[in-house]
Order: sequence, then structure tokens, then C-alpha cells
Amino acid sequence: MKISIVGSGYVGLVTATCLAESGNHVLGVDVDPEKVRALSAGRSTIFEPGLEEMLQANLSSGRLKFTTDLAEGVQHGQVIFITVGTPPREDGSADLSNVESVVRSIGQHMTSHKVVAIKSTVPVGTGARMSELLMGLTAHPFALVSNPEFLKEGAAVEDFLRPDRVVIGCDDPDAAQLLSELYAPFARTGQTIMLMSRDAAEMVKYASNAYLATRISFINEVADICARAGVDINQVRLGMGADRRIGQEFLNPGVGYGGSCFPKDVQAMISVAQALGCKAELLGQVHARNEYQKQLLAQMVCERFGNDLKGKTFAVWGLAFKPNTDDIREAPAIKVIHLLLSAGAALKCYDPKACANAAAEFAGVSGVSFVHQPYDALENAEALIICTDWSEFRSPDFDRIRTLLKGRVIFDGRNLYDAKTMLRQRLEYHSIGRAPVIPDRPNGNGQGVFTLRRTGGSVGSPKQSDK
Ligand SMILES: NC(=O)c1ccc[n+]([C@@H]2O[C@H](COP(=O)([O-])OP(=O)(O)OC[C@H]3O[C@@H](n4cnc5c(N)ncnc54)[C@H](O)[C@@H]3O)[C@@H](O)[C@H]2O)c1
Repeated sequence: MKISIVGSGYVGLVTATCLAESGNHVLGVDVDPEKVRALSAGRSTIFEPGLEEMLQANLSSGRLKFTTDLAEGVQHGQVIFITVGTPPREDGSADLSNVESVVRSIGQHMTSHKVVAIKSTVPVGTGARMSELLMGLTAHPFALVSNPEFLKEGAAVEDFLRPDRVVIGCDDPDAAQLLSELYAPFARTGQTIMLMSRDAAEMVKYASNAYLATRISFINEVADICARAGVDINQVRLGMGADRRIGQEFLNPGVGYGGSCFPKDVQAMISVAQALGCKAELLGQVHARNEYQKQLLAQMVCERFGNDLKGKTFAVWGLAFKPNTDDIREAPAIKVIHLLLSAGAALKCYDPKACANAAAEFAGVSGVSFVHQPYDALENAEALIICTDWSEFRSPDFDRIRTLLKGRVIFDGRNLYDAKTMLRQRLEYHSIGRAPVIPDRPNGNGQGVFTLRRTGGSVGSPKQSDK
């Protein structure tokens, strides 16, 4: 099948490459000429396991090409996917200007029947509005379909090739059939491809992300309660997750969710709800809890080292919002660094893949530096702060950490280590929802209950971000 994909970012590039891999002739379009040049030369502009190799193989086969020419893209594809960004506006609602501008260009350039499939995450009713817009711009027939994307960064290729489900929202049986055929190679079971109304498909995407975000904020709140009650959240989450109705996924306490989807999609869903006259109070709290959680590590550092961190250096491991990606959008690490910088600290940061993106984010900002090896970040640092659970941080050389770190303190935002190991390693250890380990505590077994400041201080409280 001839396919065009407009927008060659995380979703567009993975979609283009995987559809070419299954034998389609795919033209990827993007407004960014540098991106198009890099992709055409076989250089992936994002890090995703397995993506660059697949990109190169499909460029060589001639089934995959990239262009900046949207008119060419409109001519080429029998199906045109829209995969441009839908970033949040100031008020939290989704900015649909990129989607709208692509729809306008399609209307201008189409000369035959097209299936236009919106893969970008858009509020309910967008497909209907875009269909009306397109109808006013062209006399040629078309079907406008909602086909939300559920891939996870860090496992995007795998998710696209073996999806849990493909959601196709449209009321045109021919378009539904065409897309079902396109996705058939990736459908593992008869239930994988789900046909529904366009509005329902748009809502499935928002509701799914809002639910997953809710689980994360829920367990983070439980972790806070556990910490105050002197209970280990790890035992609690395992006990909870053993119930098949609950399951273990998305129940890891930590520094909050980030990335380009959960934060903006929760806010966009709140905005949709409000526009429809619903209160969406639960989702408001999910968002507020997450804002608080992103500040928690910085708050813990200030409680331990004081609010004035001038002259103190801290090591940061992990900058990406999750492992196996170089994406730092809304990453908790970025927030932590900003907060500690404003308290006067200097930061030495390491990430296996995201240093270049983070260096661009902090370009011209003094006090932040980046290193190529994890242990290079530790020298003369007061403490190590872990923000992302990359595999390589799970079993580090603790002797080396103890030798290099001036302060012998770890703040672990991902609960990677257990208390006994930390005690044996004689490292002071602060994690999420668990008692801190203080090895040289004079009066006992080295474990104590820490308290978190709830109001005032330099890094805020959950109530402040509630609004
Ligand atoms: N990143 C994810 O994990 C993920 C997962 C599922 C859904 N989504 C949704 O998919 C959409 C895209 O997300 P992303 O992360 O791939 O975004 P992205 O920012 O990585 O990519 C968007 C691309 O679109 C290009 N673009 C913008 N306007 C354009 C135009 N008029 N014509 C051609 N190209 C244009 C940009 O240059 C950029 O390369 C969003 O709505 C997002 O919510 C993202």
C-alpha cells in the first residue's frame, strides 16, 4: 500500500519505519529540513531500540523515503497519517494548530480519494471538526479516521509491531477495511483490531493515559502515607499487585510521570471535561500529585543539606523521563535540576542516551555539566541523585560510589536498592515511601523514619500546585 506519514517525530518515524518494514511504500513528511536530511541519510533523530537498523534497511530497500514537500506527501499516499505534535496550551488544552494546518494542506493538494487518519492525540470531537474543515476545502471524496497510537517510548518499535490493540474509529466501512488490512500483519489475535466510532477512539486514547497516570499518582500518594507510617511501600505494592484485578504494572512509586504524553494528556482531558461542564476533580488531583512528586527529590536534598546549596555539587544519574529513550520532555530530572540550581547547587549529570538533549535544554546555564561515564559524575559530589531507572544503575559498584562520593549519600527516586544492601555498603540512602538508611546513626540499626516538609521551604508543596 502507498502510505504518507505527516510528522516524523517519535510516533511518525516509528510508524513510517514499521509500515515500510511490513512491505508498504512509505513517504515520511516533516517541516524540519534537518530532520528530513538526517532520516534520509539513515540517521535516526531519536533513540529507540532497534529503530535505526530498521530505518536503514527500509531506506536501502527503497520502500521508505522522507521529504519536506507536503504536496508530494498528499499525492503519494492512499492513506495519509497525521502524526504531528499536539502540545499543551497555557490553559492545559491541546493545541491543534499543527493538525489543522496539515488538514488544510491536504485539502489544498488532494486530487483523488484519500483516507486521512489522525494518529496524533486529539480531544474528542476533533476528527468530526477536521472532517468538516476538509469537506469545505475539497470536492474529492475522503474518509477521516481516528487511529490513536499507544506505543511506549523506549519500546516503541516492539509496541508497534506487536500492539495490544489497534483502535480504528470511523463510520466508513471501506476505510475501516483498508486500515484493517494495513494493520493485519501486526494483529496477533482477532481482538487486536478494534473498530468503533471516531469520537470513542479519540476518548480511548485520553482515558487510557489518564488511567495509567492515575495509578502512578495513586501509588505515589500511598508511598507518602507508608513513609509516614514506617511501612515499606515495596512490600505494599507487591502485596497489592498480586491481586489479579490490580496487577503489578504502573504501581512503582517514584519521582512522578513525565514525557510528552501523560502530563499533557491528563491536562487536556481535564480541559475537555471542563468544556463539557464536568468537574474532573480526580484528574486534577492526579496532576497536582504528580507536580508535587517531581519536586520531592529536590525537597529531600534540601532537607538533608539545607536550603542554601551554594558551593555544593551533586551527581545526577538519569535525565530521560524513562529508560531506553533520549526524550527529556517533562522529565522529572529536569525539574529536579532546575530546583537545585535555584538553591545554588552545581550538578554533574550522566545519562546513557539523553545528555545531548539535556545539554541543549541547559545551554548557557551555569552550574550544570554532563559527563560520559556514570562514575565521573560522583567525584567530590555531596550526594548521588537517581532520577531514571536505567538498567545500568541497578547493580552499580557501591565501593566505587562510596570512595568517590564526598557525602556518601544517595537519593533514589526509583527505589532501585534495598535497605540491607545500603546498610552493608555504609551508604546513607533516601528513597520514595521507605524509611531512610542512616548507617552511622548512633542509636540503632541505621533505619529511621524521615519526615517531609509539607509547606513553605524552597520547593513547594502539593497544595501549591493544586490550582
Ligand atoms: N511520543 C509518544 O510516546 C506518543 C505516543 C502516542 C501518541 N503520541 C501523540 O502523537 C503525536 C506526536 O507525538 P510525537 O511525540 O511523535 O511528537 P514529536 O514532537 O516528536 O513529532 C512531531 C513532528 O511533527 C513535525 N511537524 C509539526 N508540524 C508539522 C507540519 N505542519 N507538517 C509536517 N510535519 C510537522 C515536527 O517537526 C516533528 O518532527 C502527539 O499528539 C502525541 O501526543 C505520542
